[in-house]
Amino acid sequence: MNVTIAPLADEDVDALCELARLVWRQHYPSIIGTSQTEYMLAQRYVPSVIRAELAAGNAWWDVLCLEKETIAFASSFPAEARHEMKLDKLYVRPDQQHRGYGGMLIAHTCERAQQLGYPIVMLAVNKRNTKAIAAYHKHGFEIREASVKDIGGGFIMDDYVMTKSI
Ligand SMILES: CC(C)(COP(=O)(O)OP(=O)(O)OC[C@H]1O[C@@H](n2cnc3c(N)ncnc32)[C@H](O)[C@@H]1OP(=O)(O)O)[C@@H](O)C(=O)NCCC(=O)NCCS
Repeated sequence: MNVTIAPLADEDVDALCELARLVWRQHYPSIIGTSQTEYMLAQRYVPSVIRAELAAGNAWWDVLCLEKETIAFASSFPAEARHEMKLDKLYVRPDQQHRGYGGMLIAHTCERAQQLGYPIVMLAVNKRNTKAIAAYHKHGFEIREASVKDIGGGFIMDDYVMTKSI
C-alpha cells in the first residue's frame, strides 16, 4: 500500500471538509450530541475558514493518502503561551481507523516539532473520547491537565490536555 503525507493543497480543501463531516458525524454525536457536532463542524470545517488559515500560513495542514485517496488529516501550529507545538486536529476515515494512520500523522507532527526545536507536542481531547485518549497514550502522550472552554452557542469543550515530550 502506498501511503503519502503531503501538505493540504487549495484544490483539496472541499474534499477535506467532506471527510471531516464524515468522521465527525460518525464519531461525535455519542460524545457531544448532534447539535454540538453540527455547531463545531460549521465553525471549523467550512472551506472558506480553512482556505483563510492556509493563506495566513500560521498552521500546517497534513493530508495522508492511501493509494492517492485522502483518508486522514492533521493540523498543527505553535501554541501561544508555551514553547510547544499544538496538534490541533487529527482525523482518520472511519473505515481506516485502528490501522496506524493516526500514528503516522502524529509521528509526522512530532518530527516537524523536533526539526523546529519545539520540545513538546500538546493537544486537547474530549474527556469522553476514550478511543482517541487510548490512541494518544499508545503514541506516547500523557494527560497534563483538564481544560473547559466556552465555544459559544451554549456549548463547551470539556477536554484533557495531553502532552508528549520530543
Ligand atoms: C483517534 C484517531 C485519530 C487515532 O488514529 P488511528 O489511525 O485510528 O489509530 P492508530 O491505529 O494509529 O492507533 C491505534 C490505537 O488507537 C486506539 N484506537 C483506534 N481506533 C480504535 C478503535 N476503533 N477501538 C479501540 N481503540 C482504537 C487504540 O488505543 C489503538 O491501540 P491498540 O492497537 O493497541 O488497540 C482515529 O481513530 C480517529 O480519527 N478517531 C475519530 C476522531 C477522533 O477522535 N479524533 C481525535 C480528536 S482529538
